[in-house]
Amino acid sequence: MSAVITERATGLAIRLMLNGSWREVVVDPAARLSDLLRDHFGLTGTKVGCNAGDCGACTILFDGVQACACLIPAAQADDKMVVTVEGLASHGHLSRVQQAFERHGAAQCGICTPGMLAAATELLGAKARPTKAEVLEALAGVLCRCTGYTKIVDAVLDAAEAGLPEAPRPGRAVGASVPRVDGRAQTLGEARYGADVIPADVLWLRAVRSPHASARFAIGDLDGFLASHPGIVRILTAVDVPGSNRLGCFPEIRDQPVLAEGLVRHRGEAVLALVGDKAAVDAVLDEDLPIDWEPLPAIESIEAAALTTAAPVHGECPDNILIEARLESGDGEGAVSAAAHIVEGSFETAFVEHAYIEPEAGYARRVGDRIEVHATTQSPYFDRGEIAIVMGLAPEAVRIVPTACGGGFGGKIDQSVQPLTAIAAWHLDRPVACVYSRPESMAASTKRHPARLRVRMASDAAGERLALDFDADFNTGAYSSWGPAVAGRVPVHAGGPYRFADFRARSRAYYTNGPPAGAFRGFGVPQSAIAQEALLDTLAGRLDVDPLEFRLRHALRRGDLLPTGQRLEASAGLVDCLEALRPHWRAALAEVRAAEGDAGPVCLGAGVAAAWYGVGNTGASNPSTMRIGLRPDGRLTLYSGAVDIGQGADTVLTQIAADVLGVAMDRIDLVGGDTDLTEDAGKTSASRQTYISGRAIQLACEDLVAAIRRLANVGESERMTIGDGEIRLGEVEGGHSISLARLPVRESGEVLLGEGSFDPATTALDDASRGIPYATYAFSAQVALVAVDRELGTTQVQRIVAAVDVGRAINPALVEGQVEGGIAQGLGMALMEEYLPGVTENLHDYLIPTVGDMPEIEVILIEDPEPTGPFGAKGVGEPSLLPTAPAILAGIRQATGAEINLAPATPARVRRAILAAR
Ligand code: FES
Ligand code: FES
Repeated sequence: MSAVITERATGLAIRLMLNGSWREVVVDPAARLSDLLRDHFGLTGTKVGCNAGDCGACTILFDGVQACACLIPAAQADDKMVVTVEGLASHGHLSRVQQAFERHGAAQCGICTPGMLAAATELLGAKARPTKAEVLEALAGVLCRCTGYTKIVDAVLDAAEAGLPEAPRPGRAVGASVPRVDGRAQTLGEARYGADVIPADVLWLRAVRSPHASARFAIGDLDGFLASHPGIVRILTAVDVPGSNRLGCFPEIRDQPVLAEGLVRHRGEAVLALVGDKAAVDAVLDEDLPIDWEPLPAIESIEAAALTTAAPVHGECPDNILIEARLESGDGEGAVSAAAHIVEGSFETAFVEHAYIEPEAGYARRVGDRIEVHATTQSPYFDRGEIAIVMGLAPEAVRIVPTACGGGFGGKIDQSVQPLTAIAAWHLDRPVACVYSRPESMAASTKRHPARLRVRMASDAAGERLALDFDADFNTGAYSSWGPAVAGRVPVHAGGPYRFADFRARSRAYYTNGPPAGAFRGFGVPQSAIAQEALLDTLAGRLDVDPLEFRLRHALRRGDLLPTGQRLEASAGLVDCLEALRPHWRAALAEVRAAEGDAGPVCLGAGVAAAWYGVGNTGASNPSTMRIGLRPDGRLTLYSGAVDIGQGADTVLTQIAADVLGVAMDRIDLVGGDTDLTEDAGKTSASRQTYISGRAIQLACEDLVAAIRRLANVGESERMTIGDGEIRLGEVEGGHSISLARLPVRESGEVLLGEGSFDPATTALDDASRGIPYATYAFSAQVALVAVDRELGTTQVQRIVAAVDVGRAINPALVEGQVEGGIAQGLGMALMEEYLPGVTENLHDYLIPTVGDMPEIEVILIEDPEPTGPFGAKGVGEPSLLPTAPAILAGIRQATGAEINLAPATPARVRRAILAAR
């Protein structure tokens, strides 16, 4: 019996029309309708992102009207008509709006898709061809963190049309905007995320977390507590960790306990874990637990950490500096000081929350002497290594099975539910599940590093020779997480995608008592781009040169020598990006000029910004291994350890495989992520999967083709076709074939297997950050047109045109989706997103862009092929976001004449800056 269903004596019997059928059930009157749908009826297409009416993921149709199921008491469903995403299709046929979603590629991670579809269905039921304003209004209550909403809005506007896109012909998948391979499951509500795969018979785990940023604590009589709480079967503390109670993203810095040991270093740190019946675990009030807290002074800022007057965050690190990095080429400091034109500025950015709509979720179970974890993640093999260390097991004794991932953006690389559920399941020999609440997700997960940047930029009198002196401090919070990766990546990218004759960049990551800051789409580069682009504008202004033309003059080109000593050998499409933007930039400037005489408080401004991004890990081995097998029936199985977190890796890898093998995509089945079944493809981060895993699957398919040719004893010139149960060789007429059924079958079910590995040619960086940090770089540039209300300080971004050099767009629609989603996150960073521990720990107070905040977006794809990439492809995830905030902030500066050096540029800050500039 699920928690929402109760005995007839205490519950309420209700009858509801659910997806077209009358259903009767006795419910706890206080239960949420969302829980009734999910837990009792198994309709897990209704997602829960917040349980507070903020995210809209649980949106259903309630008597034909969109409503948040998490806010409706189950008892209110009596005699009502309820339609969930599972009820939108009819007899296996997608509704028109579902078809349109698939046609337009409107889903990325897909966690918001059921809610979006419900909201759109209500609108389209009332009006078959709504206006854009009506669509925006209808979708306003559902948040999407991935797509930037553009393709969702386009799909709803286009929903009057029927039909699905045609599949590309065999050999023509690369370059085609084919629908996602998991798109059908997403639109039907069948995709299974972390909370959707939890078996019925699990115990539930809830971590108890620190309410203090810094405190000592002592745990009292837990046995007594257990005795008085019969539904709780176990309380885990640090002593229950079977292996090492230390997590870390770098082997040499394992500083984060699974459960704190007498000292907490940030609000939200886990100190113990309750395991038991769900109702019992949820009923415990934290303040009733026997924990004595002794709050300590907290280090809350980089400045406080640098002063080192309080006790350090980690005793073994007295200066609070986790890591420092520098990169010098020429004499950056001296050249800037002696230059004809010198500009300088200080900039600050805030903690930014990933705000994926799917909170952390999953379960673990013990299988003999092995532990198995099913959870939402970006990095199954990394998880496997971490769980093995925590459990004191060999890595082979740990199996990670990733679920569908409802958004990650870097935040689901670090451990969340995995270690504690594994420990509990191990001790209790029962499956144990955990789903973070939204406030818990926000308090416990990593953030984008706040940065404090001091930068000087200079040029000679002619504006030809540039110099940079860059100094950045990052707040890495209480634990290292990916702080070293941020501090190391930033100096390489500190100047932006421009030629500097003299260059000095230094960065430090400071421990504080803030939330651990980790990986977040850009690894520190979005922060540094804000400074570099602002000063480039100022310098261009000093020289009276147009900002776009100034960027073009100094843009990195093929053959340029980078400050690291690496030569930019091949793909470098920044000039093409900027030239493609030129007409859009001029049009935006013309609009600004035309509006200059307008009365009223609203004024227009335009900004342009550019960025580059090294694809993959910095100066580190970065391999991926892929396998593809041919089965006796002629179908293929792609074994991919590259987790698709919404960016479309599964689809892109299938496209590449299909074209190398010359087969239709639907002939390929995918086995994804499971560490028992797939090889290590590395983390889904740093824009690396299309480039690295894409190349690996290309090599794997070539390996399979070579195996087939060896078997058939034919050369490369011989035509070869994989068909049903056979391989045909030679021309259709007069050729011959090999029957696959006659070949010996491997244990895995295949008759032939191809394997490919790719590790881009990088070198470790020396102490001065010199070397080859990345094998290839993606480039991007954007123009933003903004309207600022000078009285209110509010900013509305009206239009963004983005040009991005991705080497080759394997799937243009997916690439556009990445760019649109990156722009949404950049807009949030520029204007509204600021995580304040204990203050903005929910999606009501922490604002992310809604559909109404989004501008018109135009995406221009530039394809300067990367020779080492699959079909020339590089990466797009991060480069799409980097120029957005700088371009928007530049637009605000142009509109107002005010200095905006603090992100987010909230209305209060903009207003203050305007007043200061008067
Ligand atoms: S789960 Fe209902 S609004 Fe977020
Ligand atoms: S696709 Fe909308 S939240 Fe991921």
